[in-house]
Amino acid sequence: MSVYQQCINPACGKQFGVDEVLHACPACGELLDVEYDWNKTAPPKSLRHFEHYRQERSHPHRLSGVWRFHDLLPLLPLEQCLTIGEGQTLLQQAHRVAPFTGLKEDCLYLQYEGLNPSGSFKDNGMAAAFSHGVFVGAKRAACASTGNTSASLAIYSACTGLMQSVIFIGSGKIAYGKLSQALDYGAKTVQIQGDFDDAMARVQQVSKEQGIYLVNSVNPFRLEGQKTIMFRVLEALHWEVPDWIVVPGGNLGNSSSFGKAFIELHRLGLIQKVPRLAVINAAGANTLYRLYEQEGLCWNGGNYDKTLAQKFFDQMTAERRKASTIASAIEINRPVNLSKCLRALDFCNGVVRDVTEQEILDAKAQVGAGGLGCEPASAASVAGAKKLVAEGVLEKSDRVVCILTGHQLKDPNATVAYHSADNTFFEEVLGKRGVKTAEFANRPVSVANDLDQIVGAL
Ligand code: F0G
Repeated sequence: MSVYQQCINPACGKQFGVDEVLHACPACGELLDVEYDWNKTAPPKSLRHFEHYRQERSHPHRLSGVWRFHDLLPLLPLEQCLTIGEGQTLLQQAHRVAPFTGLKEDCLYLQYEGLNPSGSFKDNGMAAAFSHGVFVGAKRAACASTGNTSASLAIYSACTGLMQSVIFIGSGKIAYGKLSQALDYGAKTVQIQGDFDDAMARVQQVSKEQGIYLVNSVNPFRLEGQKTIMFRVLEALHWEVPDWIVVPGGNLGNSSSFGKAFIELHRLGLIQKVPRLAVINAAGANTLYRLYEQEGLCWNGGNYDKTLAQKFFDQMTAERRKASTIASAIEINRPVNLSKCLRALDFCNGVVRDVTEQEILDAKAQVGAGGLGCEPASAASVAGAKKLVAEGVLEKSDRVVCILTGHQLKDPNATVAYHSADNTFFEEVLGKRGVKTAEFANRPVSVANDLDQIVGAL
C-alpha cells in the first residue's frame, strides 16, 4: 500500500486501507494518521520543486493552494481530488500590526486564511476530506460545527453536488455570518440544544449509525489538506522556515496538522529547521492550556498520561463546566485532536497560552486596522503573540507567523459591538463577557442631517 491509515499510538500502530472510513483505531481507540510509503510515491527532492507548478495555474489542480502540493499529500490520484479553488491565500508582512505585539516591524506575518471560498481555513481540509468521502462512495457528509466547518462542508456540497451536507450546531452558538452560509448553500441544518461539545458527541454517534461520512477533524484526511497552510507559508517565505507559528486552538485540528506537516518535511529532508509552535486558547475554553502548561500533560513518545486527561474531563463533567468565549469558533472544551496536538507540541517544542476576551478583541481591532480583518477566534493568535513577546518567550526579532483562520465578515456582531458608540449594544455583546474597554474602537459619529453638523463632525 502506498497510502494507508495508521493508528498514531506507537504501541499499536495498526494499519488500515485508504478505502476504510474510520474515525479512530478500532483496536485501541486512538486517532489515525494518513501515511504514505514514500519509497513508492517518490516525494520531491526539494521544496523548490513546487515552483514550476505556479506556472500551470490555468489548471484547477495547480491553482488550488491544496492540490498544488499533492506530491506531499498523495492520498488519492490527483484526478480524483476535488477543488473549488481553495487555498488562494496570502502571507502578509504586517508592519502596521507588529508594534501592537511588541515584535519588530518586519517580523510579524499574518497568514490570511479568510480568503478561502467559504472564508476560513477549513476549506483546505474539506477539499481533502470531501474528495475522500466521494471516493468511498458516500452520499451524505456530516459535521458538528461552531460554524466554519459547516460553511465549508456546505459549499463543497453545493458546488459539486456530490454529497449532501448535514450539519449539527449548538443552539445559539454560531455567528450569523456562518449560519447564513450553511443555510444559503442548502445544508440540512440541525440545531441541537447544547453546545459544540454536545453536537460533536452526537454527530459521531449519528454518522456511525447512519453511515454518513464524517468530516470533522477526527477524519485524518481533513488534516492532510490543512498541512498545505504550512506549505504555503514556507512558499511565501521562499522556503525559509520561520521561528514561530502561532495558531488559535479549538478542536486542535490545525495545530495537529501543522505538526504533521513539519514532522514529514523534516523526515523527508525537505527542511532542516523546525519552527516552534504556539497554540492559543481562549481563557473560557482553555483545556489544552490547563492540561499542557499547568498539569504537565505531554506526548511522551505516544504514551501520554490518559488517566490525567480523563480525570480532567471527568471533573469538567462533574462541575458541568461549559466552554464560553466571544471567540465562538474556539468555544470548545473537549478537543478531539488532543493527542495529535500533544505530538505536534512535542515535535515543535511548543507552548500553549490562553488569552482573555479583552485581549482577543483588542488584537482583533488591531488586525482590522492593519487591513486584514478577522473573526475573534483568529485574533487569539495575535493576542497570544503579544503575550509571548511580553513574557520574553518570543524574541522581538523572531520571525513570527500568526494564522488568521477566518474572515472578518463571519462575525459582524463582535466587531460592531467593539466599535459601537451605543453602550447598550456593547454591554449586550461584550460587557457581559467581562470586556471593559475598547481601546482601539473606531466609533461612528451620529449627526443630524445638516451640512454644518456633518462638516463639523469630519
Ligand atoms: N479559528 C476558526 C475561525 C475556526 O473556525 C476554528 C475551528 C478554529 C480557529 C480552531 O481550529 O479546531 O483546528 O483548533 N472551528 C471549528 C468549526 C471547530 O466547527 O468550524 P481547530
